[in-house]
This record gives sequence, structure tokens and C-alpha cells, in this order.
Amino acid sequence: MIERVLAIETSCDDTSVAIVDRTGWVHSVVAASQDLDHEIYGGIVPEIAARNHSIALIPLIEEAFKKANMNWSDVQGIAVTNRPGLIGALIVGLVTAKSLSQAKHLPFLGVNHLEGHLLAPFLRDDKYAPPEDFGYPYVGLAISGGHTSLYQIKGLGDYRILGATKDDAAGECFDKFAKMAGLGFPGGVRVDQMAKTGNPEAFEFPRSMIHDDTFDMSFSGLKSSGQRMIEQLGPELVQERLPDLCASFQEAIVDVLIAKLDRAAKVFRSKRVILTGGVSANSRLRARAQEWADKKGYTLVIPPLRYCTDNAAMIGYVGALRMARGEVSSLDLGPSPQPLVTDFR
Ligand code: KG4
Ligand code: ZN
Repeated sequence: MIERVLAIETSCDDTSVAIVDRTGWVHSVVAASQDLDHEIYGGIVPEIAARNHSIALIPLIEEAFKKANMNWSDVQGIAVTNRPGLIGALIVGLVTAKSLSQAKHLPFLGVNHLEGHLLAPFLRDDKYAPPEDFGYPYVGLAISGGHTSLYQIKGLGDYRILGATKDDAAGECFDKFAKMAGLGFPGGVRVDQMAKTGNPEAFEFPRSMIHDDTFDMSFSGLKSSGQRMIEQLGPELVQERLPDLCASFQEAIVDVLIAKLDRAAKVFRSKRVILTGGVSANSRLRARAQEWADKKGYTLVIPPLRYCTDNAAMIGYVGALRMARGEVSSLDLGPSPQPLVTDFR
């Protein structure tokens, strides 16, 4: 029986390894950030991400065991993200998982990264546990640099995609705006910081699709509008008005996300709602979502930052549950960029 797995996540620019129980208990989670290596290019360079994963991964696996005070005899399987993500980056994790699976005579399972994000609220450690009344079904908004999608989550492997961005992801929009405004990379957290002293009503930005009766979203219009605004103002005024610009731009994204969440919770009569993915670290979004949930009487769960951003613990949890159900991948499993959620089942 699978009780505990070693998990590997290398889908984007964070190398992460964790040791996780089927109950969601995280014994250890370790990561190597590559932000500094990509910063000079103003965005993630896939080839650099893959190379860094291959350097960081084996030492991180050793560190994860050491931190958990465990060794190979304490895990019964290996979970690894095999989709979606940067192909070269995924290959590093996948090849490592396959090799270790052979060498250590352990089964391995490829896990969908998005499924990891959606079940992250169930993780637990000595500082975090989901609220007592949290469980299936719930509505989940996964918001990161690569995806912005809304789901109904009814149980393990039982997901329904309600809507998604038609173009850019919310995180990408934050990152591009930050780059154009001269804030550098990664942008989301810098816009968040800068916005703290700004006026969210100072500048007018579009909220595309906010009133349409689907769960879909669009952020490319907002991105172009941000670019136009920055060009019109010119470098000096942009510098001067940066807090107001960031607060107003951020508010447009937050308004759309909350509106879609509200609609989904209402239509699906869901009292439980989660936010997950890197953008759920945004302080304004967290505050506005909590305000909204309190007003409506919903239980809102936003996992702590270490489980919201890309991490191997969420991959380990999904992997352990699925492997306990008897699922195993074969050695011919490949990586896939496919962001579809319909392949969860
Ligand atoms: O989930 P994640 O770590 O990686 C992906 O799977 O993409 O998300 C990264 C994204 C980036 O676009 C980053 O700018 C954004 O999350 N992000 C934020 C904040 N912290 C990270 N966006 C807005 N406010 C933040 N505080
Ligand atoms: Zn992610």
C-alpha cells in the first residue's frame, strides 16, 4: 500500500522536491528558486530553467530526505509532474523520476500540475491545516503565470472546468505590466508591493468580460491598455505615479477574478471556495476575496504561500492518492504541454 511518496516538480522555473503522505501531511518540501538567473532576461528562459533543474534536482532530493529524517525505505513511490509545463523542464524531472524508479524498484506516477494546485488546500504541516469544515465539493480558481482557470472540484479526479482566460494568464499580465513599468522580474510581487501606497481608482483600466454570463476571462486588453498608459505618460510620470498605476492595474485584475468567483459560487451553490497558484499570493486579492467570502458566508481557503506557488508537496499529495488507488505510469510516459483538465480522469 502506498502511504508516502517522494515528489518532484520541475514544470517551470522552480525546482522542488517533497516527501508527502497520502493524508496530505508534508514531511519536507525543499526548493531552489531560479529568479536571479532569469531576471536579467526579463522573463523565464526555458533552456536555462531546464539546465538549472538538472543541476539542482539530485541535491534537493538528498536534502528532502535529510530534512524529513527519512531515507528511500520510507517511501513507496515517486510522483512527478509530467504536464503541463515547459517541455525541457518537465523532461528533467521525468527522466530523474524514471531512473530513480528503476534504481530503487519503486513505482512512479506522472501528475498533472494543475491538479496539484487544485488539491493544495488539503496539504498540512505543523503550521497549516485546512479548516475543519473544508472538503469536496468546492469551487477553485487556479491563477498563476501560465493559467487562470475556474473549476468545480467534486472529488479526486472529478473536476469540471467552468471557464478560463481566453488569452493571457493573470500572472503573465502582472509580469508584463511590471516589465513595461520598469519593475523587473518577477513582476507580480513587485506590483503588489508598489500598489500598497497607491490609489486603485487613480487610473481607468478595462475589466473585459466581467459582466458576460460565462466563467471565461480575458486579460490581453488590460495588458495593452497598461502598455498604452505607460507610453502616454512617459518615463518620468510613470515613475512618479507608479503606486497609483500599480494599484489601479491590480484592481482591474482583482475585480474580474472576484466577479467570476462570485458567479461560480452562486451558480454551483458552493459554500466552499479556494484560490491557488502564484497570483493568490497577491495581498489585495487575498484581502478582497476574504471580505467577499465573509459577506457571503462562504468558507474561503487560500493555502499558505509555500503551497500556493509551484511546489512538489501538492504533486506528492495527488500522486500518493492516485498511487494508493493503484495508478502507476509506465516507462514510456512522456512530458506534455497540454493544459487541458479533461485528461484528469
Ligand atoms: O504558480 P506560480 O508560482 O508558477 C506558475 O505555475 O506560473 O505563479 C507564478 C506567477 C507569476 O506570474 C508571478 O508574478 C505571480 O504568480 N505572483 C504574483 C504575486 N506573487 C507571485 N502576482 C501578483 N501578486 C503577487 N504577490
Ligand atoms: Zn503552477
